[in-house]
Amino acid sequence: MIHCPDRPEILARLRAAAPSVLPSLLLCDFGNLERELGQLQEAAITSLHFDVMDGVFVPNFTYGMPIIAALRDRTNLIFDVHLMITEPAGCVKHFRDAGADVITIHAEAVDDPRPVLDKIRQLGAVAGLAINPSTPVEAIESSLPNCDVVLVMSVEAGFGGQSFNEVTLEKLKQLSAVSGSDPLLEIDGGINATTIGRCAESGAHLMVVGSAIFNAPDYQNAIGELRDVAKGAIGISGN
Ligand code: DX5
Ligand code: ZN
Repeated sequence: MIHCPDRPEILARLRAAAPSVLPSLLLCDFGNLERELGQLQEAAITSLHFDVMDGVFVPNFTYGMPIIAALRDRTNLIFDVHLMITEPAGCVKHFRDAGADVITIHAEAVDDPRPVLDKIRQLGAVAGLAINPSTPVEAIESSLPNCDVVLVMSVEAGFGGQSFNEVTLEKLKQLSAVSGSDPLLEIDGGINATTIGRCAESGAHLMVVGSAIFNAPDYQNAIGELRDVAKGAIGISGN
């Protein structure tokens, strides 16, 4: 039976694994999703990242609840759901019901993120708030007490395979200085073996990776190398 952890347990598992690599299911082989999941699990990951796009908030469509629910039946990994959609308030319960453990909304998609973040917590999930590269940290400062995770986008949300934007490192440092490790800091976009070390040094706990895993010949090796570089950068030795 699939275990459904509550918010304290989800947060404890994320903290214990940090710094960790979260594969993003944007560039995987959707024709062989179960096989892809199996290969990722061999790399001893803690969490999977789901990019949900509505074609309105970003100029790209991906998938919604059915894909999350289908995989929920097959694994106890933490499901980290990144909602790149307008009006997320009406959808967060559907994503929680489908099996999301972490639900992240975009600051740019709502007037005030706080009621939506509170709603995510009331559903027993971990509440995340994302900012695009052009949104400053100051824009979300008043929402930080309502966040369990802050997702700093290092590319403009919408597509995988883009180049890392260096402005992100300063934002991570700024958030680290304000918050320490609460909320957890997540980074997403253009993360590879060259950029992941600086992200860890700048305070990121959760590193979302798409193309650097799914374009690699061996997922397990790619994830292992990324994890080692991230840990090495902050003075933690291998597994
Ligand atoms: C972009 C998504 C990312 C993306 C990362 O909007 O949020 O999760 O898939 O892919 P890479 O690692 O290729 O930048
Ligand atoms: Zn993402």
